[in-house]
Amino acid sequence: MKKQPYLVTLEKGKNYAWCECAESQTQPFCDGSHTKVNKRNENLVENLQEISLISEDSQKLIAADTKAPVVFSADKDTEVSLCGCKESNNAPYCSGAHRNI
Ligand code: FES
Repeated sequence: MKKQPYLVTLEKGKNYAWCECAESQTQPFCDGSHTKVNKRNENLVENLQEISLISEDSQKLIAADTKAPVVFSADKDTEVSLCGCKESNNAPYCSGAHRNI
């Protein structure tokens, strides 16, 4: 994860998938790594259930944290700052939140 935005050029009409999970090797774009993150979380819940170390509320919290890319498109050829810190409140775009990390 990078604690700064990525300056990227977007092409009009093209679809993009911004990485939410921070594990993509093609930042700031998705490479499918979120599926491994989600599977790892599922396995963690199952393991914790087996040893009775997780409450139902905790299970729901982990389940609600399922990662998925943010799919978006550009309405014109443009240069934008995409979030690299994964803390933006305007994802996939940088909101300046990285300044507080
Ligand atoms: S990089 Fe700026 S808000 Fe994430």
